[in-house]
Amino acid sequence: MKIALLGCGVVGGGVLEICDSRDDLELKYVLVRREKKELGDRAVFDITTILNDKEIDTVVEVMGGLSPAFEYVSAAMKAGKNVVTANKHLVAHHYCELLELAKENGVAFRCTPAVGGGIPWLYNLERVMRLDKVLSFSGIMNGTTNFILDAMHTEGSDFAEVLALAQELGYAEADPSADIDGLDIQRKCIITANVAFGACLLEEEVPVFGIRHILACDIAAAVSMNRICKMLAFGKLNNGSPAVYVEPSFVRCGELEAAVSTNRNVISFDTELTGKESFYGQGAGRYPTAYNAVADCLDIKNGVKSFYTDIMNPVKPDNSAEKHPYYVRFKGSDEWLDSVSIEKCGEGVVTADVSVAQMHAWAAKAKEADPALFFAGVI
Ligand SMILES: NC(=O)c1ccc[n+]([C@@H]2O[C@H](COP(=O)([O-])OP(=O)(O)OC[C@H]3O[C@@H](n4cnc5c(N)ncnc54)[C@H](OP(=O)(O)O)[C@@H]3O)[C@@H](O)[C@H]2O)c1
Repeated sequence: MKIALLGCGVVGGGVLEICDSRDDLELKYVLVRREKKELGDRAVFDITTILNDKEIDTVVEVMGGLSPAFEYVSAAMKAGKNVVTANKHLVAHHYCELLELAKENGVAFRCTPAVGGGIPWLYNLERVMRLDKVLSFSGIMNGTTNFILDAMHTEGSDFAEVLALAQELGYAEADPSADIDGLDIQRKCIITANVAFGACLLEEEVPVFGIRHILACDIAAAVSMNRICKMLAFGKLNNGSPAVYVEPSFVRCGELEAAVSTNRNVISFDTELTGKESFYGQGAGRYPTAYNAVADCLDIKNGVKSFYTDIMNPVKPDNSAEKHPYYVRFKGSDEWLDSVSIEKCGEGVVTADVSVAQMHAWAAKAKEADPALFFAGVI
């Protein structure tokens, strides 16, 4: 198999190393935008060199971002090349267009490293769907936020301090917004929901609330309820539209997710026949992520010819039937919050069962009055 790599950073460098260690994969080109002497003749600056080379059967995109990644990946598919990508933003944002392009051009499109990094999550989701029906999924899909929450629980660190440490260790970007505001998880959640439920969800349709404003008192509130605060993604097949959302959650001690420490991830599906199965591992990092990109190439080499599903129903998510209590810390008074609160809990309150749709809609508005408000589902 002859491969062209688009981008040679953290993940791309790993893909290059793994391919070079094998006899059955030849990495012929690496698209770069500045000189990289160590790549020698393999470095190319113009995508057309790759598109015009009939020998290249698979393009691995690990540049990140939407543009020019979308234009390059689309052009590669139109030129009859299979595509593997680790770029969750690209896949979540252009899901339908990319699936349709891959189908039209008869090429394989795989993105296992985009969700779960080193965990073969989408691969196993596709596998279980061959003979079983996925009813729901949930899990910890982001290592940075798990690292932060774990350190706040176990070390008593405050948010800013542990975020700075995560940046120092290379777990968090210089601009951590995509992680701490939950957008990274939202993208992985959308891709998973689309595959699991045959949907085609848009980013703006899936509500997300992050941990940017979490305080030590919120962690203390979770502990007082014998729970651990985790950032979770959820998807559940209800009649008609699926419930899909991302929010901090107070998880009962003793549950699997509560035990996931440092920057590790765990993602589970629940199916009609198999029941709950969970996949635990390294959700990011050079070698784990590169491993799944190269494994996708090997799957293509071994005959995989498509995406994980070809069903794209235009359903809208509906979170109005998903109900549970919430912990809410809000400065000031609010009529609706007062009407659903049942008890005080540290600096906040605990509500009766409230729908996910209602809580996210309320918080989006209430942030105008208290930008530092925080909530978490009590599950
Ligand atoms: N890092 C992880 O653990 C991880 C895990 C799962 C998924 N991912 C995904 O994998 C992708 C890559 O992540 P990464 O961590 O490897 O990022 P990275 O270290 O920033 O690498 C990206 C590379 O792409 C290059 N690039 C960007 N635009 C380009 C262009 N127009 N032409 C040529 N080269 C271009 C950059 O070149 P310059 O050096 O010139 O900037 C850089 O070398 C992202 O979509 C990310 O979400 C990463």
